[in-house]
Amino acid sequence: EWTMQSFIAEATEKIRTETGGARVLCAVSGGVDSTVLAMLLKRAVGDALVCVFVNNGLLRKNEADQVLSTFRELGIDVYYVDATDQFLEYLSGVESPEQKRKIIGNQFIEVFKEGLEQIGQIDFLAQGTLYPDVIESVSVKGPSATIKTHHNVGGLPENLPFKLIEPLRELFKDEDGIPFPGPGLAVRILGPITQERLDMLREADEIFIAELRKAGLYDEIWQALTVFLPVKSVGVMGDERTYENVVALRAVTSTDGMTADWAKIPHNVLGVISNRIINEVRGINRVVYDISSKPPSTIEWE
Ligand code: XMP
Repeated sequence: EWTMQSFIAEATEKIRTETGGARVLCAVSGGVDSTVLAMLLKRAVGDALVCVFVNNGLLRKNEADQVLSTFRELGIDVYYVDATDQFLEYLSGVESPEQKRKIIGNQFIEVFKEGLEQIGQIDFLAQGTLYPDVIESVSVKGPSATIKTHHNVGGLPENLPFKLIEPLRELFKDEDGIPFPGPGLAVRILGPITQERLDMLREADEIFIAELRKAGLYDEIWQALTVFLPVKSVGVMGDERTYENVVALRAVTSTDGMTADWAKIPHNVLGVISNRIINEVRGINRVVYDISSKPPSTIEWE
């Protein structure tokens, strides 16, 4: 019989045997998977665990602070690297979605390499791969070409100086909460990424998600996001014409993310969200709602 207790006991034992007291590196994102992984590793190897959290500058509002305080509460030390400038520099002027993903993946590796020089010898890298990731990365890489590169699996360079361990590989996850993709806000800004656009998008996104929670819709929505569009449109404020930015709101219902329906958010809730964004976020004068289903549209816009 499978129980969480028996899983923890067995996984802990297995990690101890596999790593034999050597240091284990774990990249944390604040997401459920890497947090669970870090807790399991802490229990298994104690101070031999080295957690690294990279801020790529593409996170949601206050997200980095929240991650750090969560780990503080868990009593797990985190080596924090704020690599915002480096990421934004490499992403500067880049428009292609896949190019953005590639740059972000490569920069993560660069940042880790630089970090490792300070951290010192590491023998094991723990990854939070779950069973569905294993399956998905196989199907996505079929002959019909890559749909979107999945950053969790297969994205690592070959000949890394450590051995991989994947203690969660047999686990499924009860999806809960709205997921946040690895490339973060980079694939939610259509066109070039700038600090100014990131700031506007963060504010708008926070309002959207907060209002979904307030309306009691958070749990029935599978994914919700705000997209910064690369167009400007005319508006009016007082007796001045404005010529400013547009954001699109995207919310879907789904069971597995492979197909999805646009969420039927009540019009009054959409109205509140739109008013708040336009009134509170400087530089945005128009909000639109995405009513496309997947397929043929994807959930993200990039
Ligand atoms: P799409 O846009 O493919 O999204 O319909 C399906 C789900 O996958 C997420 N997604 C990503 N997650 N790295 C990730 O970690 C990515 O590059 C990526 N692209 C899409 C998306 O947020 C949605 O939940």
